[in-house]
Amino acid sequence: MFNPFNEKPIPLDDTIMDWKTIYPKTYSKDQVDPYTKTRIILMNGIEVEATMFSHQFHRNCTNNDLRRELAKSRRTEQLQQKRVNWLKPINETPLETTIGYEHVAVDLTAWLAQNEPDPYVKDTLDFALLEDFDHLYRYANLLNIDQNIPAHNLVQKYVEITPGRPTIAEHRHPVDTVRDFIDFSTADIRTRLNILTITAGEQQTMNFYNNIGNTYYNDLGRHLYQEIAMVEEEHVSQYGSLLDPNCTWLENLLLHEYNECYLYYSFYQDEVDPHIKSIWEMHLEQEIAHLHQAARLLAEYEQKQWDQVIPEGTFPKPLDFQDTREYVRKILNDQIELTADRETLKNVKDLPNGHSFLQYQDKVNHDVKSVSSHTVIDHHQQMKGEDYRYEDKEHPVKALQDRTKDNVSIARTNKKEPARV
Ligand SMILES: [Fe+2]
Ligand SMILES: [Fe+2]
Ligand SMILES: [Fe+2]
Repeated sequence: MFNPFNEKPIPLDDTIMDWKTIYPKTYSKDQVDPYTKTRIILMNGIEVEATMFSHQFHRNCTNNDLRRELAKSRRTEQLQQKRVNWLKPINETPLETTIGYEHVAVDLTAWLAQNEPDPYVKDTLDFALLEDFDHLYRYANLLNIDQNIPAHNLVQKYVEITPGRPTIAEHRHPVDTVRDFIDFSTADIRTRLNILTITAGEQQTMNFYNNIGNTYYNDLGRHLYQEIAMVEEEHVSQYGSLLDPNCTWLENLLLHEYNECYLYYSFYQDEVDPHIKSIWEMHLEQEIAHLHQAARLLAEYEQKQWDQVIPEGTFPKPLDFQDTREYVRKILNDQIELTADRETLKNVKDLPNGHSFLQYQDKVNHDVKSVSSHTVIDHHQQMKGEDYRYEDKEHPVKALQDRTKDNVSIARTNKKEPARV
């Protein structure tokens, strides 16, 4: 397996790209493989995190020699982010891009959960998986109402579009979003990479909705982006809390660069579009230069060798987007009613009256008719007699099978009786 520490790095100055290079030929919206899109969306989020992490480091560092080193690699991260994000074509609408974001969230989270050795981290991934899966369904209904486009055309056969844990049930009290952190000095490298990757992905999704949500051209859509952006923030808190706060800034930098190398390497293996494959290859080369720089800085400023932080050196199994439909069905069946209780997950039915989750629900969702993730489905049902779905077979959760009525009580109340709308 590939070990980026054994590669000869190119000089950092050679990682600077000109305007022509960072304005790539875009993919064709009608011909692109959905997984090419998910790779692009994820790598954009990874590059945004690389840039913002470097900014935070720089703002917390007193040594200008070190800050100049960070400025050099950060410039390349910026260029890479532009190049990757500008692969999106002009004619792809923000809502179509949004469907891609939730497709990433589903298939990435499911892949990571299936390849996660730490059970606590796996549970955390499975938990949020069902929520992003539901976002895909809500946005797909908006897309069908407003543009008459079945979202299935965009994601193709790779993912089902049907309710997950309903978005209305995802609004939790902030105190229930903090998980325990993982000790990175003993954690498997896969765990560390998985947490870094999913945190960056969810953070990008949150920022994307925060920024474009108010540009949607009607109130229903503007409401829906606002509501789902709030859930993405819960996810960012939840995943961010798993990161080890005891890592030093330079250890963290080394891990960030190693993760970028790993992801570009993984996606270079799988990419079906030759033009985009050559981008992944070039960025991998640039990241290897960053990684070696980070290792040099760690030795110089902290007297630590890279293999004290990443003893493995060689990459774990490459991350590859793949069909996770059966896995998602299994998690739907087993975990639909889970919610968070401080650092642990519980069935909502087991919460005592007055629990922070129930209090928060009462505060924000007391008027169910004002909750857009519900009204968007209601609206579709009124227009077309049923919701928009794309299912291989019937929904694994019986309570979510009715296509004419949106279920707003499941996973949301500790009472046996369903809530009235
Ligand atoms: Fe990068
Ligand atoms: Fe989401
Ligand atoms: Fe980098």
